[in-house]
Amino acid sequence: MPLNIIIGAQWGDEGKGHITDRLAHDAAVVARYSGGDNAGHTVIIAGEIFKLHLVPSGIIHPGVVCLIGNGTVVNPAVLLREMDELAARGADVGPARLKLSGGAHLITPAHIAMDRAHERARGRGAIGTTLRGIGPTYTDKARREGLRAELFADPDALAEALAAHVAAKNEALVGGYGEEPVDVAAVIAEFTAYARRLAPYLVDGPLLVDEALRQGRMVLAEGAQGTLLDIDHGTYPFVTSSSPTAGGAMTGLGVGPRVVDRVIGVAKAFTTRVGGGPFPTELDGAAATRLRGTGEKPWDEFGTTTGRPRRVGWLDLPILRHARRVNSLSEFVLTKLDILSGLPEILVCVAYELDGRRIESFPHDPGVLARCRPIYETLPGWAEDVMEVRRPEDLPAAARHYVDFVAAQSGVPVSYVSVGPGREQFIVMD
Ligand code: IMP
Repeated sequence: MPLNIIIGAQWGDEGKGHITDRLAHDAAVVARYSGGDNAGHTVIIAGEIFKLHLVPSGIIHPGVVCLIGNGTVVNPAVLLREMDELAARGADVGPARLKLSGGAHLITPAHIAMDRAHERARGRGAIGTTLRGIGPTYTDKARREGLRAELFADPDALAEALAAHVAAKNEALVGGYGEEPVDVAAVIAEFTAYARRLAPYLVDGPLLVDEALRQGRMVLAEGAQGTLLDIDHGTYPFVTSSSPTAGGAMTGLGVGPRVVDRVIGVAKAFTTRVGGGPFPTELDGAAATRLRGTGEKPWDEFGTTTGRPRRVGWLDLPILRHARRVNSLSEFVLTKLDILSGLPEILVCVAYELDGRRIESFPHDPGVLARCRPIYETLPGWAEDVMEVRRPEDLPAAARHYVDFVAAQSGVPVSYVSVGPGREQFIVMD
């Protein structure tokens, strides 16, 4: 009765939606366990592009039940828009396919206003959040003042809770930050309408997961963000407010570690980051544009949620070792290998130099990380386009060497390599 977990091994945007879609055909349930619509998962099937923020990537597979679990934060306006868009494209997003756990927390316009106000007040120290209200919603959850999705089943209780919530936030917004207040009556009217539509989708998430596992069926936990954005194991304070790591899947779905089989770390063949904070292998200028792309292609390195150009750099092995450690990874999936084709040589950071010393591990203190200088090993590049390669033995020798180097240096096998954005552009490694 396995639970398999898909985790971002870097700073998010590693291509998790792509691999989730690939593995979803063997799953009974695909479940989101953390984060909210700060995530952006792109799946490309037969040239058709699906950009998902909240609905699990399994939705594109008929027959797979998709769960938005307790550990998530849900903006119902975004969820309903995404459901409508998927329905218009022929996907079944009815309550038999899509389920919202009653323990998930709701994001309101007041949370979003607070996110903006906090970021503005931070000035140059801004985290660079996605401004989706994620931090304030998890703050309310931790303060035990949050609004849970189960309120959709009781419109009177929902209206009462919203009135108190918006009033409290308005006090902070107006009194603390000098911002405009949020219109409480409008929020109550909006959320009452959301409740009518979403109440049929409510379930007890942990029960649903347990039933699938006890029937011996596979549950796939779809991570959002990445290990370095984890509130405990990321580059604090430049992190999100939830736990994208493997532990987050346990609490977010309501299961224990004994049910876990594979913990799959998804890593890009280079590194990207959105928002502020240290990034040792960061590149700029032409070298950065070469890896980022220009934004013409949907898989170029521009945020799915915000459209911001991503910061880019060479692959960083101390990061992958950190991801292996804090997630107990069973394997890596290496994505976007095709982007490296045509580079004469490829740099890989194998360790850092810190105050004249060599260190192999990733420092947990971002102040220390900011002082780390990458120590690179230069690997040979390959000229061939690899986008049509489907078998490991057909990879150019230098590309194969790159994949093997990552596995050897990180201490975890690479089980899949992706060589393009399409569903079929995968190599199952031997
Ligand atoms: P928040 O999650 O909106 O609070 O943003 C906190 C930090 O996490 C910011 O640096 C964001 O850019 C980053 N972040 C949040 N979600 C994602 C994601 O899905 N991909 C990449 N970065 C993200």
